[in-house]
Amino acid sequence: MQEVQHATSRRASVGKHAGAFGARRGAVIFDDLRAIQLRYGFLPKAELEGLSQRNQTPLYQIHSVASFYPHFHLVPPPKAEIRVCADMSCHLNGASSLRADLQRRFAHAHSEDVQIRDVSCLGRCDHAPAISVNDHILTDVTAAHAEQIARSAMRGDDIHEPRPEQAPITCKADPYGETEKYGAVRKLVPSKAWDDVLTQLKAAELKGMGGAGFPTSMKWDLVRKQPDPVKYVVCNADESEPGTIKDRFIMTNLPHLLIEGMIIAGLVTGAKRGILYIRHEYHLQEEILGEEIRRCHRSGLLGKNILGSGLDFDLEVFVSPGGYICGEESALIEAIEGHRAEPRNKPPFPGQIGLWQKPTVINNVETFINVPQILARGVDWFVAQGAGGSRGLKFVGVSGHVARPGIFEVPMGVPMRDVIFNHAGGVRGGRQLKSFAPSGPSSGYLPASMIDVRLDFKALAEAGSMLGSGAIVVCDDTTCMLDMALNAVRFYRNESCGKCVPCRVGSQKMADMLVRWTQGGVPESQYRADIALLDELSQAMSLTSICGLGQIAPAPIQSVLKHFRAEVDAHVLQGQCPSGICFTPAVRAGEAPRVGIRP
Ligand SMILES: Cc1cc2nc3c(=O)[nH]c(=O)nc-3n(C[C@H](O)[C@H](O)[C@H](O)COP(=O)(O)O)c2cc1C
Ligand code: SF4
Ligand code: FES
Repeated sequence: MQEVQHATSRRASVGKHAGAFGARRGAVIFDDLRAIQLRYGFLPKAELEGLSQRNQTPLYQIHSVASFYPHFHLVPPPKAEIRVCADMSCHLNGASSLRADLQRRFAHAHSEDVQIRDVSCLGRCDHAPAISVNDHILTDVTAAHAEQIARSAMRGDDIHEPRPEQAPITCKADPYGETEKYGAVRKLVPSKAWDDVLTQLKAAELKGMGGAGFPTSMKWDLVRKQPDPVKYVVCNADESEPGTIKDRFIMTNLPHLLIEGMIIAGLVTGAKRGILYIRHEYHLQEEILGEEIRRCHRSGLLGKNILGSGLDFDLEVFVSPGGYICGEESALIEAIEGHRAEPRNKPPFPGQIGLWQKPTVINNVETFINVPQILARGVDWFVAQGAGGSRGLKFVGVSGHVARPGIFEVPMGVPMRDVIFNHAGGVRGGRQLKSFAPSGPSSGYLPASMIDVRLDFKALAEAGSMLGSGAIVVCDDTTCMLDMALNAVRFYRNESCGKCVPCRVGSQKMADMLVRWTQGGVPESQYRADIALLDELSQAMSLTSICGLGQIAPAPIQSVLKHFRAEVDAHVLQGQCPSGICFTPAVRAGEAPRVGIRP
């Protein structure tokens, strides 16, 4: 079997191991597939057959996993594979024209030399537009720069992914500063006051920061009460929703708080093993966390007999095989077990039957870092950090049309106006604010008139939106809201895992309908029928989809119909895009034909 010459120009992370603990069970398949792909650049049939024989696993099972994750190649990839992020923040920052420009520059290239494709959010929304070339991520990209990198990949040169400068950032959330870290766990271990931890988390009213806002104390209590002697703690650092970048920041700047939160979760619930599930595009954070875990082992905070207490808790990093759906907690469990990341039907919830059928705590990165803050400084301190009756601090990512995109630490409950205009520097170029998504596509879009809504679970729910993962995406007055709704619906369509019909078929139907609307020329009677069908479809998807992806997919278009109906009517009934975005040949050509579950 010939090894492809350019295999080394692809990221070495595809060859990294899931870790001894993860490899013990089903996750070994990813190690094997990554090793084969690193060697050959793709997964040759003969190698998969060999793997099937060696592991005594049916070939169809290996193939079903390999074909699910977009980062495994079943056919030889081109020498330069350029993927342009097509999602919200990059879309607002010229991704479509960047892609079109690149297509012009490589118009005469052979497909075995270079291919240009869309890709879902790369986790660099604050440095849009972002692209990847052979899995190396480049940010704030111009077409000329991308062309230069792609041409060097075509020559077989190694690509060096730029590493951002690492100036340490002081966060209010860090209770330790320059003093000794892990103070909460050092105090907790000798006292073994596990119930007291739950009491404090309950008094603080800590909620999950991954999107759903479920009370953390209830989740931990459920796992603690399970009689099974084997339990797990999982940190969800998959962070793949467009606009969501806060966990990247937390893992870079506060890795010790995350690990401390996970250790405390293990001690309180009786779990002896933790897995930190991180998206595969976060190479730097993977290194930072790996280093922090080693430091904890050296100082007796992780492993056997933690701080001489007789208690054990160990932790490893698991690198996601990729895909937004992997962030859904039961899909994430399936991925760790070495399967396709298809969500499970619930109940049972992971707290009862989770990883390897054992009770499992799954929390978001930011949820975990709140725990040592509360224990080290007290519930009163935590309550006092919020504004307008909200509690605690919040990390938010702000991207799109703002002057200073980035991640900001703000009091929970501050008005959105404060976040967008003070922290993120307001709308770029002095333009007017048109709308904002409080949390990426899942929150839908709110109009500028709602800018004083507070950054809070309840306030945003009352506004018909959600706090979600704190991914604020800002649109200026040049933005077409129907185009943005289509962009978000396409994201869900592309990322649907395909397990259930309402989401798999419904998201495609919805995208088809919106494409027609952006192209105008729909008779009024047809438009009315479309709207009725869209409502029915939205309801069916919300009620019958297995997981949150299908349930929330209608939110972007429903919010645009609610707040920007006149703009949609203008497209469909008058054949006009008030922002001058739609009805251009480039946009008409933009709807790539759907191939498989992801384009
Ligand atoms: C499609 C989908 C993607 C998700 N992605 C993430 C994610 O990247 N990170 C995360 O913490 N939660 C994500 N969630 C929510 C998780 O399923 C789960 O609720 C969360 O990890 C629980 O942690 P928390 O209680 O601390 O919020 C996602 C949910 C869905 C439906
Ligand atoms: S709702 Fe969508 S993503 Fe979720 S299980 Fe169904 S098909 Fe998969
Ligand atoms: S990197 Fe493009 S939207 Fe996140």
